[in-house]
Amino acid sequence: MDKILVHGGRKLAGRVRISGSKNSALPILAATLLTKEPCVIHRVPDLSDIHYMLTILSELGAEVERASGTVRVRAENITTDAPYEIVRKMRASVCILGPLIGREGEASVSLPGGCVIGDRPIDLHLKGFEALGAAVSVKSGNVRVLAPHLKGTNVSLRGKFGSTVLGTDNVMMAAALADGITIIDSAAEEPEVVDLANFLNKMGAKIEGAGSRRIVIEGVKELHGAEHEVIPDRIEAGTFLVAAAIAGVNVTLTRAFPEHLKAVLDPLGQAGFHIETSADQVTLKANGSRKPLRLDTEPYPGFPTDMQAQMCALLTMTDGISVVTDNVFPQRFMHVAELKRMGANIELNGGTAIIHGVPKLEAAPVMASDLRASAALLLAGLAADGVTEINRVYHIDRGYERIDDKLNDIGAQIERVKV
Ligand code: EPZ
Repeated sequence: MDKILVHGGRKLAGRVRISGSKNSALPILAATLLTKEPCVIHRVPDLSDIHYMLTILSELGAEVERASGTVRVRAENITTDAPYEIVRKMRASVCILGPLIGREGEASVSLPGGCVIGDRPIDLHLKGFEALGAAVSVKSGNVRVLAPHLKGTNVSLRGKFGSTVLGTDNVMMAAALADGITIIDSAAEEPEVVDLANFLNKMGAKIEGAGSRRIVIEGVKELHGAEHEVIPDRIEAGTFLVAAAIAGVNVTLTRAFPEHLKAVLDPLGQAGFHIETSADQVTLKANGSRKPLRLDTEPYPGFPTDMQAQMCALLTMTDGISVVTDNVFPQRFMHVAELKRMGANIELNGGTAIIHGVPKLEAAPVMASDLRASAALLLAGLAADGVTEINRVYHIDRGYERIDDKLNDIGAQIERVKV
């Protein structure tokens, strides 16, 4: 098990190339189960979550080859029963359900367990499958779905906290091979949903409206192989922008799509940072003083919950009172206690953090609890006095490709040590 040591006080300057999107690559890799023919996916990031997905595909019988960022999958003969041992390691495994049901008419996957970021049921996924005519049963922690004949339907995927990203992906993938037309209302509008729909359409699917709240899928008899390049990771890009805001002078992200980052760029601009964008580049320049913010997370195109922790880290060192509310995962504040160990002044009130800015944070040993919380602690360490020690960094490797190397390339001093 590694830990990371962050030497605070170094100024960041330079260019960072953004990797392919984790949250796009995962459902796209699952979608390769929809055809017997080979699929080739480019810009797949080197992350432990991706490794889990590739292991699940192999366990289901697919041939999987990987050469640096390109993955080739051929799911000619597959089973429909995913092994608990792997599925339990990653919630996103749930997105193999749609492809298996669509292609094989049945699937059995273990119900995702608890998650530190909050309650994460899959009732909307199952509601979508039942609307398509599937029979769903949950027994001894396993979801079993039988769907000998999927039929097009109208279904709303609106939940208590808005739409569901992987739920929209799952129902879209099952409906791609259903008989007739399916309309998904209150669909998730995330760029990752659009990227998946683009890949499915390359496989011969007939999907319109992805990226809007209403997606129309005309089912087809079968899908063929396809080649696709995954979009850049907007959350990785957002994380580097906050790193630049916390400890940077002038940082440019390359292969980052500004249109996907608007909900992050706007508040950074309001906070006083100078931002320049072009087709696939974003530059952030420190501008002296910072202003406090009021942030509310929402489904896309709102401010992403996956950027909430990182922004909290920035606002702990921003003069004045900031208010951050997470409307998607109201309990997603595991980073707060650790930031307070570094001297932050934060009150938690339900799903809202009230942050009183302090001039400086102090380094301290801290514990990572989940992917984005661990990124927030790393960012806080960049500006803290001394050496911050982050434990359980396996969380960060789930979603960031070589984040320590990339930060060191623009002036940080971060070490990874074995314990
Ligand atoms: C995706 O998870 C992302 N994961 C998450 O990123 C991200 O936080 C989340 O979307 C929201 O943006 C991947 O894409 C692999 P949801 P997902 O279903 O699809 C409730 C990261 O850091 N809900 O959109 O699982 C749910 O509890 C990860 O990279 C139901 O009530 O999230 C939550 O409050 C963490 N019933 C809200 O909806 C359901 O059936 C949004 O969840 C499904 C969800």
